[in-house]
Amino acid sequence: MQEENHMEMTPSDIPEIELSRAESPRYEFRAECLLKLGDGKSINGEATNISRNGLFLQMENLIPGCGPNQRGQLEIIATLQDKRFRVCAPCRIVHVRGSGIGIQFESMDKEAINDLDRLVSTLSKYNAYYSKGKNRLLKTKYNIVAFFYDILDYPWERQYRFWRPKLLNDVRNRVLEMGVGTGRNLKYYHPTVQLTGIDISEQMLFRAERRSKTAACSIGLYKEDATVMALIPSSHYDWLISFFLCCVMPDRLQPFAIEQVGRVLKPGGRFRLLEMVYSKDPKLRKRQDFFAPFVERVYGARFDRNTLGYLDKSENLKVTNTYFIKEDTYLVIEGIRIL
Ligand SMILES: C[S@@+](CC[C@H](N)C(=O)[O-])C[C@H]1O[C@@H](n2cnc3c(N)ncnc32)[C@H](O)[C@@H]1O
Repeated sequence: MQEENHMEMTPSDIPEIELSRAESPRYEFRAECLLKLGDGKSINGEATNISRNGLFLQMENLIPGCGPNQRGQLEIIATLQDKRFRVCAPCRIVHVRGSGIGIQFESMDKEAINDLDRLVSTLSKYNAYYSKGKNRLLKTKYNIVAFFYDILDYPWERQYRFWRPKLLNDVRNRVLEMGVGTGRNLKYYHPTVQLTGIDISEQMLFRAERRSKTAACSIGLYKEDATVMALIPSSHYDWLISFFLCCVMPDRLQPFAIEQVGRVLKPGGRFRLLEMVYSKDPKLRKRQDFFAPFVERVYGARFDRNTLGYLDKSENLKVTNTYFIKEDTYLVIEGIRIL
């Protein structure tokens, strides 16, 4: 399963990742797993979506009869750069989908919990490093655009302001808003909401901070990258809200943001996204084509992002509803964390 000359390590021995190696590929990280089931069968595979609660295992060998609620012992051998470490935990199969199985950790001892925490936070750091460079451009763009964002967006905001309260009407409890921008949503949250708002641009956040004074709910605003969310705890939020972020986010980064959504939502937690997409109506499409270069240059936004496609590939998020709030251009995507 792994090279013999690797040094065996526990997560507490993991060295700091060399953050200066700009040319390193994104995933020199691999997490190979061996799941030993109670009935003596075992499954090999590679883990994706590792969180404190569980992971998704892409199986190499399919075991007939392997299904939900079977219990076993999971051994994760994670390889990072040229180092290797091991975490073992009792677990339960939550679901089997295609060649993958959702696995939840169970009654771990303190040592295993610590090991897993180290593993998850190391992964976060690693992701943080690799997405930093790619997002710098967008961050710089929004730090500049922030100075005139509200003026520039005013013609559109005149319609958005009627949609925002409708889209936030049923949102309650712990809420994470990704790409909070200048805080246009803040005043529409229910007073009982405990909101965490994140954005990559400090200038946008500065404006959101001012706008937070008009809100009825409790609000914490943080500079955070949605593809990393290093400060955001796992399985913590009842809702994730994000308007016009995915149309702005480059396609290659979207799977990472979606992975984070699957991590920070509680199992059963819901998400609602609002995005712009290309219309099928030729007249509207012509108008969008006319505005597309401006929209991309100023906001970094595009009408052809493949957000639904990436969500479809997610192992623990499920899209439950999509509808257009206006014409066939403003798309609402709703879903739930299933694992
Ligand atoms: C088009 S604005 C939308 C703002 C707000 N959601 C609204 O409805 O008015 C997109 C926002 O996403 C933020 N953003 C872009 N990439 C991000 C990332 N990777 N992580 C967090 N925020 C990001 C930008 O800084 C900007 O504030």
